Amino acid sequence: MRAITIRPGQAGSVQVGDIPEPVPGPGQALLQTLSVGVCGTDREILAGAHGAAPAGRDVLIPGHECLARVLRAPDGSGLAAGQLVVPTVRRPCGRPECYPCAHDHPDMCVTLGYTERGIQGADGYQCERFTEVPRYLVAVPAALGAAAVLLEPTSVVAKAVEEAARVQRARLAWEPRAALVTGAGPVGLLGAMLLRLRGLDVTVYDRMPADSFKARAAAAVGARYLCADQAKLGEGGPFDWILECTGAPPVVFGSIPALAPCGVLCLLGVSGTEGTLSVPAAAVNRQLVLTNGLLFGSVNASREAFTAGAQALAAAQAAWPGWLERLITRRVAPNAVGQAVDLGPEDVKAVVEWAAA
Ligand code: BGC
Repeated sequence: MRAITIRPGQAGSVQVGDIPEPVPGPGQALLQTLSVGVCGTDREILAGAHGAAPAGRDVLIPGHECLARVLRAPDGSGLAAGQLVVPTVRRPCGRPECYPCAHDHPDMCVTLGYTERGIQGADGYQCERFTEVPRYLVAVPAALGAAAVLLEPTSVVAKAVEEAARVQRARLAWEPRAALVTGAGPVGLLGAMLLRLRGLDVTVYDRMPADSFKARAAAAVGARYLCADQAKLGEGGPFDWILECTGAPPVVFGSIPALAPCGVLCLLGVSGTEGTLSVPAAAVNRQLVLTNGLLFGSVNASREAFTAGAQALAAAQAAWPGWLERLITRRVAPNAVGQAVDLGPEDVKAVVEWAAA
């Protein structure tokens, strides 16, 4: 069968070729890949700056944002042939001291010995077929169709949003009204969608112009859009809830003054490893202490977050028909994967199409 492969650490090593058919082991399902989204992490992997091959190998099948169809499922798994599923990404480290992994939360792994399919030490989904055990497969409503390829990035935001809400409700009788989303990429727009579904008044801040596709996509879910060329970061604030989706240090630290008292700032954007920034550290600390500010980082997603994400996608499809599909601005064949990596400024999400949904 066909697969995309790369050599982690080697830029330009991407290849499309034939590899042996996967054979399901005991208790495993056989899946047909329909489409696989490409994100910033994949771009870093393809540039040789991130990722690791499975132990004992030097080649990795990338791809972690997958929509698949069940070809064969083990008896009693609750899955049926033909059903649409999205596989989760992270697998537990298996070390006895890792209490989150032992409790089905590899997304919270404390040893950092986890593997991630398509990213870190385990093959991903950029291939025609793959195998997986049912506990890592999340069934999605057939009505979502091709838009369900957005579930993995949605799960990452759903985890952060659910967690922020839970932690805040544990601290006080929280009634958030205004939210700021920094960055109008796929994660930012899906974050704006989730917060709008919760009824918040949402402002999206990005560098793209006010008449760009990203600005229109934010407005289409009822968010206010502010372009960085015309508005100061934090304009329209203070905000009870900030979802930071750029990973750009000036935006990360620049958004803190816009946090309302008792507000929460979730950090979702992954920064590069270089760069320093001068920040008014005393003022930032003083503000956070004197206003009970909460800052937390969030990565990856649990199975529950995938399930919550699937429900949110179904709700978004009902509220704003066609919006999710429009976020997929580029669809390419496997042998044109390079075109899914080099995106234009108006692109939101590119997907590699392996078979029709
Ligand atoms: C993926 C996450 C993953 C993270 C770090 C993101 O692009 O969506 O599932 O945990 O990268 O590798």
